[in-house]
Amino acid sequence: MRVVAHLSDLHFGRTDPATLPALANAIAAARPDVVVVSGDLTQRARRSEFAQARQFLETLPRPQIVVPGNHDVPLYDVLSRWLLPLDRFRRYISSDLAPFYADDEIAILGINSARSWTFKNGRVNRDQVARGCARLGLSGEQVTRIVVTHHPYDVPGAGAGGTLVGRARMAMAGFAKCRVDMILSGHLHVGHVGHSAARYKIPRHSALLVHSGTTTSSRRRSESNSFNLIAIDRPHVRIDRLTWDEAAFALSATEHFELTQDGWSRVGDGHGAERA
Ligand SMILES: [Fe+2]
Ligand SMILES: [Fe+2]
Repeated sequence: MRVVAHLSDLHFGRTDPATLPALANAIAAARPDVVVVSGDLTQRARRSEFAQARQFLETLPRPQIVVPGNHDVPLYDVLSRWLLPLDRFRRYISSDLAPFYADDEIAILGINSARSWTFKNGRVNRDQVARGCARLGLSGEQVTRIVVTHHPYDVPGAGAGGTLVGRARMAMAGFAKCRVDMILSGHLHVGHVGHSAARYKIPRHSALLVHSGTTTSSRRRSESNSFNLIAIDRPHVRIDRLTWDEAAFALSATEHFELTQDGWSRVGDGHGAERA
């Protein structure tokens, strides 16, 4: 079994400071095999914010898979935005914009979806998908393949695809070819688990679309801070959401899935299995 801690949207520069030590404690207690941060490490891509993010990441277990979000590209510093959009992310967080981790149970690939020319929305391109698939495709049949991008491939509860990552359909078709099992994302500041089949009709492809809420931002929009603990014991996956209750991160929801011949199916609470 492997445990992945999935955090997102830390937004240093606008964090609730009480959440930080509590988060570090909760993650230490979970003893994850990998820590994932799906973007928006900062609020305004300032050096001081990146330095704080760096310092906090140092307190968390490794390995870590960290990708940038739209807030990690300078917004008002026009020269930086266009000439060196991810220079600060590279300098303070990681020079690797396609981080990869693999063992004999899981393979995790980070894909950068932050772009200079979109203020909020992001995009992935064919080359990123092809290169990512080439790496993930080397893992064995029993390995659960996971992609991490900041921008989402699904928008819970909304019909239109306004804030989906750009080229989402192309990307999902590519991920189907290399049998991606799970995509971890953030950006929406909403914790949610969906299923690729709800939006993408790709025969014989099934992926869980796991969103983390903002883990430490004081700008919470509609819900409290949260992060996910994902326990992978193929063919079973359990996703726990831990939510900030003003004192600690506490378990607020658990969802179970099982990989069947029809793909990932939600395992209900006493009502049998239902397609997610
Ligand atoms: Fe965010
Ligand atoms: Fe974002």
